Amino acid sequence: MDLITFTIDGLELKAEKGNTILQAATENGIQIPHLCYHPDLKPVGACRLCLVENEDGKLVTSCETLVEEGMKTSTTSKRVEAAREMVVRLLIANHEWECLTCAKNNQCQLQEVSSFFGIEEDDVADLRRSIIEITPDDSNPFFKRDLRKCILCGICVRTCRDRLGVSAIDFGYRGNETRITTAMDKPIVESSCVSCGECVVACPVGALVPKDNSKPIREVKTTCTYCGVGCGIYLGMRGDEIITARGDPEHLLSQGNLCVKGRYGFNFVNHPDRLTKPLIKRNGEFIEIEWDEALELAAQKLLQCKGDSFTAISSARCTNEDNYLMQKFTRLAMGTNNIDNSARSCHAPSVAALAESLGSGAMSNSILEISNSRCLFLIGTNPTQSYPVLSMRIMDALRNGAKLIIADPRNIDIANHADLVIRHNPGTDVALIMGIMRVIVDEELMDQKFIQERCENFEAFLESLEEFDLEKVEKITGVSPEKIKEVARLYATTDSAAIFYSLGITEHSHGTDNVFALSNLALLTGNIGKPLTGVNPIRGQNNVQGSCDMGCLPDVYPGYQKVENPEVNIKFQKAWNSELSPKTGMKMPEMMEAALAGEVKAMYIMGENPALSEPDCSNVSRALESVDFLIVQDLFLTETALQADLVLPGASFAEKDGTFANADRRVQRVRQAIKPVGHSKPDWQIIMELAKKMGVEGFEYRTAENVAAEIASLAPIYGGMLYHCLEEDSRQWPCYHEKHEGTPILYQEQFATETGKAKFIPLSYKPPAETPDEEYPLVLTTGRRIFHYHTSTMTGATEGLKALYDQDKVEISPRDAEKLNLEDDDMVWVISRRGKIRAPIEVTERSPEGLIFMAFHSSDTKTNLITTPSCDPVTKTPQFKYCAVRIEKCLE
Ligand code: SF4
Ligand code: SF4
Ligand code: SF4
Ligand code: FES
Repeated sequence: MDLITFTIDGLELKAEKGNTILQAATENGIQIPHLCYHPDLKPVGACRLCLVENEDGKLVTSCETLVEEGMKTSTTSKRVEAAREMVVRLLIANHEWECLTCAKNNQCQLQEVSSFFGIEEDDVADLRRSIIEITPDDSNPFFKRDLRKCILCGICVRTCRDRLGVSAIDFGYRGNETRITTAMDKPIVESSCVSCGECVVACPVGALVPKDNSKPIREVKTTCTYCGVGCGIYLGMRGDEIITARGDPEHLLSQGNLCVKGRYGFNFVNHPDRLTKPLIKRNGEFIEIEWDEALELAAQKLLQCKGDSFTAISSARCTNEDNYLMQKFTRLAMGTNNIDNSARSCHAPSVAALAESLGSGAMSNSILEISNSRCLFLIGTNPTQSYPVLSMRIMDALRNGAKLIIADPRNIDIANHADLVIRHNPGTDVALIMGIMRVIVDEELMDQKFIQERCENFEAFLESLEEFDLEKVEKITGVSPEKIKEVARLYATTDSAAIFYSLGITEHSHGTDNVFALSNLALLTGNIGKPLTGVNPIRGQNNVQGSCDMGCLPDVYPGYQKVENPEVNIKFQKAWNSELSPKTGMKMPEMMEAALAGEVKAMYIMGENPALSEPDCSNVSRALESVDFLIVQDLFLTETALQADLVLPGASFAEKDGTFANADRRVQRVRQAIKPVGHSKPDWQIIMELAKKMGVEGFEYRTAENVAAEIASLAPIYGGMLYHCLEEDSRQWPCYHEKHEGTPILYQEQFATETGKAKFIPLSYKPPAETPDEEYPLVLTTGRRIFHYHTSTMTGATEGLKALYDQDKVEISPRDAEKLNLEDDDMVWVISRRGKIRAPIEVTERSPEGLIFMAFHSSDTKTNLITTPSCDPVTKTPQFKYCAVRIEKCLE
């Protein structure tokens, strides 16, 4: 650390070079009042409260001025005090004075500085102009804006613009009328605000405050239940009710930040519609029964369906411990490997392709590295909507000088901040990436040494590259050769470059090839196995990584140990003291086909809603109907649960202990905050009790921690994932034993393949399985909205989130809307070869001509009624991102 010596108020002090006077003073315990400074934002010197006097008698803002060797500064001179006092007087004179009833009372920084200077309301009477009447904005369901209390520090504007990249608000009007406004001064809820609440947390006064200002009696540190970023949160409780959630400022990745779901989406836990007792269907009606009867009935039925006529779907929302027991139950109690999870519908191509080419199907690097990245290549991912806090880390990287390349058929929000943007035709990723690699090879920008020393199969790959000349690539992708060259050069010549992708890459009929292409690209340039690089699939659901890690897949035991490997099979037979099936089981779409063919006698679904989430979902519903005995374990009576014979009430993340594995292989503790609602039980406990009822040995656990210990003993990559090791900090797998600190970056020394070398994969371009024609001329692509999650089982039970976004809309380009004579909010039929759905339209430049977009959150719209079941041949992952449709205006 480069230290310099300087003097404040006659005291000789040391400070790190590059620090401002304000930072240096604070670090040395000297308080300088300030209002517009925020440690996470670039200082702007707006409030002038932090003035100090330098040796020349000049007043300077300490939040902007750097300390220098030998500098002498006064923070208490008469001039300084007089200037600051005048600033505070003017601020107070223009401020609505109702401190005792203000939600920010006792936490307000203006209140703090006015008491520092001993200024009372009467002292500023002579300065008081009539306060401009601005009606408070109550439109957002979670927070209020009262601009009569605003001190124009600009922290909210900078937070929204620089940290979020959203820019929903800015300074508006002029002179005395200056205020913070939205575009056209509309209510905040009608702006581009994503309701993250970051500005509310950062506002130093009572101008932005939560609507519900209740204070919790106790708090529990845990992990957000919504997406694969895995932000750290503190849940706040009064009794058995969760009333607050706040970001954990110490959390490595989230650093106290949260998105709208993490901060406000917890009301579902105490929602009155929660399932609180087991339900049995009799004569088409659900009847509440006691646990003992429910488990006895389930045990009797399941004992008659052992073997391959049983199938199970595990949950990307449940904990590792829940998932571990679900696969153990399937394999040990039911004697089959017919287990799968919702990764089948999202990242199975990542698991398949990356395991083959690099040796492991997970993110190679860490989310933690993003802020320091030099070059980020994002393809087929919309982090603003799907992984909002990861998107904040990308904004950090851009402020630190990183270059950003975006490739996406849609005009996604983060593209506004990119250095290079590609809007390629949907479904043409292989051609695009091969084109980029063709430039890298032709211009000799590849990393020859890396290829020679650490890779194999390069020649075969080169041969396959030959057919991808840029003219042909342009014809397929619609991207000009110049743009492809620019992207290739930027990616290949920046000293380190990282690839991030998600379902825009995997949910295609050639999703595995798409991932192979990205892995080839990283290998070609040596951008893997070192910091700030890698091939990084961003996982969507909170524990989709963990449910795969736990072996909720038909071909692997926990820790990706192959079921068909005899040594592995013997290892688990010994550990579980039973014979186990050596045969790979069915994938989820195969389970549905088998059910339709009458081959599935019983199915057990935990925490998933395939009747709404899977493509061509009316067919899935028919499949579920065909199962003799369907058990669904969930929090609410979902569309899938409605079809069940027996419904078991599980407990949410707030009601149980466990762990989640986030997108970058980070295993984090989930801690029980309240007791399970009603008679619901933690999922691992239900499975354990069911196995015991069936007389199966090997399910004797007292706590979730006991389950975690068994996972650690059987899955080498989880060897050190014991609760006492995770108490203070998280760890990234592989983590082989207690003393192992985990592995933030994979493949630093060798790849996890059999030979230790990475494998190039030759590729050819294949068009999507279903293409538009005269009858179905448009392409429908699906994805997420920031306010919801999956099929809205949880977010739909959170009033504020429903108020912000309640109905899936059809995003359509202005050109297509004009051709079809449609305007915003017109109701349309979206018709595919599978059926039709009704929804309002939103005309937006986000959609290019020919491509429409819909989310799949709403049970009213049921987007997946029309999506195609065509899937990737390797993984059976459906082509959610490409389905041919037409649009007709609703006339009724
Ligand atoms: S609303 Fe709050 S954060 Fe924004 S400018 Fe006003 S006082 Fe500052
Ligand atoms: S809540 Fe978030 S998105 Fe909305 S104005 Fe504040 S910082 Fe911007
Ligand atoms: S970014 Fe993801 S993990 Fe973080 S608060 Fe939002 S939903 Fe939760
Ligand atoms: S804190 Fe320095 S000018 Fe406001």
